[in-house]
Amino acid sequence: MIVIVMGAPGAGKGTQTDLLARNIGLRKFSTGDALRRHVKAGTKIGEQAKELMAAGNLVPDAILMELVKEELEAHKKDVVVLDGFPRTLNQAKLLQELRDQKAVRAVFFIQVDRAELIKRLTGRRTCEKCGSTFHVDQSPPRSADVCDHCQGRLVQRPDDQIASANHRLTVFDKETSPTVEYYEALGLVRYVDGNKGVDVVYQELESKLKESIS
Ligand code: AP5
Repeated sequence: MIVIVMGAPGAGKGTQTDLLARNIGLRKFSTGDALRRHVKAGTKIGEQAKELMAAGNLVPDAILMELVKEELEAHKKDVVVLDGFPRTLNQAKLLQELRDQKAVRAVFFIQVDRAELIKRLTGRRTCEKCGSTFHVDQSPPRSADVCDHCQGRLVQRPDDQIASANHRLTVFDKETSPTVEYYEALGLVRYVDGNKGVDVVYQELESKLKESIS
């Protein structure tokens, strides 16, 4: 079974899907995290994706399908929560070809105001070592620029700088609206108010998700 979590850059998809994985044991797969692992490891996929990601552009669908196919093949029996995929209409259609449409049980769209998104993106700091995320104002680390969990160095993602962050939001509006319409026509979309605090958003998401997959 597949559950999709959508939302603009900075909407809290990563934060919320980490909580779903930790609290109710769902298998989480983030295409952004998978691509960043390839970039860090210097693989061929990483080389192809690196510049596109830093500039805030989308990575070609063929690469995304390779990553998603591998993940779904390896976890056929799990409930897989997809974070950040699909984000184009073509990806949604290719996912349908890969799996029977009934495999997608629910699509959650986390809605957040644009000014808040910019604040979250530009204030985010990510651990180089373990990938944990912090926010300079909303969830600062105990010690500046040091990860609370593994003492790794906290850095700003290249695509969280203001120009790239703004561009990602523009790309998102253009590419993702038709994808949401596609799933709306299938009656699968449920909206979650992502402007509230992390715990409040999580309660809403978890209760809607449990209704959808029970
Ligand atoms: P990806 O990593 O998926 O980036 P994104 O979609 O832009 O999402 P983000 O990771 O920026 O934000 P998020 O919604 O996960 O928010 P988070 O929880 O971290 O993709 C990166 C790139 O990879 C893309 O630009 C593209 O190049 C490529 N890519 C990936 N998938 C692709 C695809 N399918 N097709 C093509 N290309 C693809 O939270 C953000 C910040 O806000 C954090 O600091 C957090 O602490 C804070 N925060 C979270 N929730 C709250 C809250 N409720 N209140 C206050 N602060 C909060």
